Parts: sequence; C-alpha cells; structure tokens
Amino acid sequence: MEAEPALRDTALALIERLRDRPVLAVSTGAGMSRESGIPTFRGEEGIWREYRAEDVATPQALYADPALAWEFHDHLRTVVAKADCNAGHIALARLEHLLAAHGITQILITQNIDRLHERAGSTGVIRLHGDIQRVVCTACDHVDDDFPIPAPVYPPMCACGALLRPDVVLFGEMLPETAIDAAFAAAASCGAMLVIGTSVQVQPAASLPWVARENEALLVEINPVETPLTPLVHYSLRSGAAQVLPQLLQQMSVLLSKNDP
Ligand code: OAD
Repeated sequence: MEAEPALRDTALALIERLRDRPVLAVSTGAGMSRESGIPTFRGEEGIWREYRAEDVATPQALYADPALAWEFHDHLRTVVAKADCNAGHIALARLEHLLAAHGITQILITQNIDRLHERAGSTGVIRLHGDIQRVVCTACDHVDDDFPIPAPVYPPMCACGALLRPDVVLFGEMLPETAIDAAFAAAASCGAMLVIGTSVQVQPAASLPWVARENEALLVEINPVETPLTPLVHYSLRSGAAQVLPQLLQQMSVLLSKNDP
C-alpha cells in the first residue's frame, strides 16, 4: 500500500537529516498513552477537568490534605496499572533498534509517569516527571517500586513515621536534575526531534523542541490537534500516536533498507 505523502516526506526528511547528525530525540507527553486508555491532563476529557491541580498535585496540597492527594494519585495509579503499551510505544522501541543498526542513536524523553515506554522495550528512557508506581518517603530514603494499589490506608505512612508519596514531580517542584540535564543535552545535539502527544504547555519540557530548533534540528510533531509548537515544526502528522508511529516506522525501515549496501 502507498504511504500517504506527508508520512513518506517526513520519513525521507528524517533519514536525510539523521545521516548528517545521527541522533534522534523523541519527546513524549500524555497523548502518547491515550490509546492505552490513560486520559490526558488537558482538553475535554482531561484529568484537570475532574480535579484541580492545586487541590491534589502541589506540595502544599500534599501536606495540607494528604488523604485527598493520595486518593487522586491512587485513581491514576489504578488506571496506569491496568494499561498496556499501545502500537505507538512498540513502534518507538522498534525504531530505536532499527536506527541503532544504522548507526543512529535514539534518545527518548518522556513527561509520562506510566512506565509504558520501558515496558514496550525502549531503553535509557529519560523520565522528566517521575514514576507514579514508585512510592518514596518524604523524610527518609525509603523507596518502594511495587507499592500496593490502592494504598492500604489514606494517607500511607513510612515505618519512620513520615508521610509516603508517589515519586512524581508535583507542580512547583524541581525536576530531577540528571534527567533535565540529559534531556536538554539531547535537544541541543539531535539532528531531529519527534514531539508526540504533548500540549507543550508545561515547562521546562515545553522548551525542549525550541532548543532543538535553535540548534537546527528537524522538528516533527505528532498530535491530532495543533499546539503552540505547530507553527515552528517542519512536519506535522495530525493523527494519534498509535496510528501514525507504526506507519512512520515502516516507512523509515523501507527507506533505510534501500540505503543498505
Ligand atoms: P496534556 O494533557 O497537556 O496534552 C496531551 C496532548 O496529547 C494534547 O495536545 C492532545 O491533543 C494530544 N493527544 C491526545 N490524544 C492523542 C493521541 N492519540 N496521540 C497523540 N497525541 C494525542 O499532556 P502533557 O503535555 O503531557 O505532569 O502534560 C504535561 C504535564 O502536565 C504532564 O506530564 C503532567 C501534567 O500536569 C505530571 O504528571 C507531573
């Protein structure tokens, strides 16, 4: 079947650019996992329509009403625990291996807190906003990667007596320094960046494509709707990630095999 021209052109442009600068950065947001059944944060069916972020997802909210903050995070932990990788996650993991076989490094940066990229087989994922399945103590260095869902009591407490919390970045908190440094280094050095399923509204992740663009990277956006980034990108694939990524993988695979000696 003939691929649609936008897809073929995008794949061709990506391969040409990556031949010169062989690093592909991929930056994903909540839309990446939409087709896995995990709701996005903004938009009509977004999580922030049901809850107010300031009531449940700030450090102030966590300490003012930890039971409410935990109920909210457990709602999300339950949805995430039931979700499976979609065809988009799997295509990105395969793309990493395909590109590696041609000397191109893929660096995956995600704002998602759901582990689905790792479960699909992507390696070295840079997580900017943490991992909702991991629970940490607010006082000591206790970490639990497999904390029960739902929590046994609201709010759950550590053996040391302090409050436990999900290991996610709350609004107003700093991002993990090594992750943010690695993400900006990838943005500055990549030949191309795929920006998938993010409304590009939350900093500092929202700045990554701008940094890539300033460094003359080719920008490709995959999102069913326009975002503030759209006017800046070279190629826009206006479709769901699970639909378009397998097709993009297929196109890139065909083009790369034509280049093989
Ligand atoms: P948003 O909810 O702000 O945006 C999701 C984007 O995904 C929107 O632009 C949608 O159009 C797009 N989208 C929807 N379905 C899609 C699909 N099937 N394929 C591709 N794209 C689709 O999510 P983020 O930009 O990720 O913070 O939000 C950033 C941060 O804000 C999140 O990481 C979260 C939130 O507060 C934390 O969890 C710490």
